[in-house]
Amino acid sequence: MLRPDVLDYYNRGGERTRLAAGTGLLEYLRTWDILERALPAAPADILDVGGATGVYAAPLAAAGHRVHVVDPVPDHVAAAGALPGVTAAVGDARALDVADASVDAVLLFGPLYHLTDRADRVLAWAEARRVLRPGGVVLGATIGRFASLFDGFVKGYAADPLFVGLVRDVLATGVHGGGPYFTTAYFHHPDEPAAEARDAGLAVRRVVCVESALWMAGRLPEVLASPDQRALMLELLRGIEEEPAMLGTSSHLITVAGLLSDS
Ligand SMILES: C[S@@+](CC[C@H](N)C(=O)[O-])C[C@H]1O[C@@H](n2cnc3c(N)ncnc32)[C@H](O)[C@@H]1O
Repeated sequence: MLRPDVLDYYNRGGERTRLAAGTGLLEYLRTWDILERALPAAPADILDVGGATGVYAAPLAAAGHRVHVVDPVPDHVAAAGALPGVTAAVGDARALDVADASVDAVLLFGPLYHLTDRADRVLAWAEARRVLRPGGVVLGATIGRFASLFDGFVKGYAADPLFVGLVRDVLATGVHGGGPYFTTAYFHHPDEPAAEARDAGLAVRRVVCVESALWMAGRLPEVLASPDQRALMLELLRGIEEEPAMLGTSSHLITVAGLLSDS
């Protein structure tokens, strides 16, 4: 079951607009760039676990894929299920109501950073493996261990002792306590996502930065508003997305994995 504070947070409706501007838009553009290169050609069967209101499901369906969203928040499921070409159901990444070996791709863009127990995260990866067809791909998004530390000074939250306490806890344990700042979450050290996926019996292909350090760029809105600058930034970020020195600076990482039998 979803923790009540996580449900309360998502019931406020923020997922409808979160990725529309600023750092959210950078996250969206980079995630889409990574997705497009990792997914099989359309039409593929894509399971979007933690798909929320369908921010990726909508363009994936428009690109010709068959997309099913699974999310524990009923409002998210209602919004995603109303999108053209998208089906949706209430569910949990740890126990998917989906047949073995029945999809070409699984997106875990949400569950891995809301499951605070490692065993639960490994279970989510293992469920993704179970439902994957041979040749398929799993993509898991995680939030970086150091993101709240950086955010504290970029956005000024570090003036609040409550926030500083949350950062200290994250640096010590990975668990973000939430409260007025986001909600209960787990912020991964860069070494952790691949180890979790491997423990679930998956073969890890790549771990990539979504934003790298550029989510902290003060001029980000101007860069994203300029088509030439935006294209240049996306091209250059693609070139360094696997650079190990960048992984710890990124607000999000995506881990790309497949079946051991395919590797
Ligand atoms: C920040 S939103 C991400 C939405 C979208 N996938 C994206 O990447 O922008 C996190 C989502 O994960 C969902 N979630 C949290 N715990 C989950 C779980 N155990 N199983 C499946 N989804 C979960 C939440 O309900 C929420 O919709």
